[in-house]
Amino acid sequence: MKTLLIILSSLLFVAFISCSDKDADKKPTDKQVAELRTAAGDFMGKLKSVLVSEMQNNGVVKAVSVCSDTALILTEQMGKSKNLSIKRVSKKNRNPKNVPDAFEQSVLEKFQSLKMIDKKTEYAEITRLNGNDVIRYMKPIIMQDECITCHGDNEYIPDAVSEILNERYPNDKARGYSSGELRGAVSIIKVINN
Ligand code: HEC
Repeated sequence: MKTLLIILSSLLFVAFISCSDKDADKKPTDKQVAELRTAAGDFMGKLKSVLVSEMQNNGVVKAVSVCSDTALILTEQMGKSKNLSIKRVSKKNRNPKNVPDAFEQSVLEKFQSLKMIDKKTEYAEITRLNGNDVIRYMKPIIMQDECITCHGDNEYIPDAVSEILNERYPNDKARGYSSGELRGAVSIIKVINN
């Protein structure tokens, strides 16, 4: 009886260890997270600098295509060079391609529920996707004053801009935001199979 108990409890112990090991596997290393943090920062930094210079040099109407075209180009370029998929997602999206999937939706909700989002706020997890082991990384995108002309209440959006938006994005949900609000997130997927 005693031996049986010992065997049983060692089995339980082994089961316990392998479970916690599994959980530990789910956490990406600091180095992996740092790489994706840099990629997200580069992506948003490039996007914003093109947007701001286009607005200053060619006006807000021309800049409308920047937020879309530049994002697409950067997504392509960075995806190829760094071997990862990078995009922006939002629950109140403008482009239907930027609808969050279930994972992104739940992380956006996590961000939304935080008392404060700061520069360090991010989320990273190792998970399975389409038969691959992947790291999924997300970083919040916060509304700033310069975004209001295209994402704020209609009274802040110039008529000419509104016209283009209506034409290109008939299902636009990305208006009515105010400065400081969570606008969405950068979402990165990196395959880590050997
Ligand atoms: C000149 C107009 C303009 C300005 C200014 C602008 N955006 Fe956008 N934004 C757009 C357009 C157009 C899209 C749709 C892009 C596409 O087709 O992928 C968009 C898409 C986005 C998306 C992707 C999610 C979605 O709704 O489809 C995010 C996130 C976003 N903008 C954040 C911002 C932030 C943050 C700022 C301020 C730093 C900003 N935008 C400033 C026009 C603008």
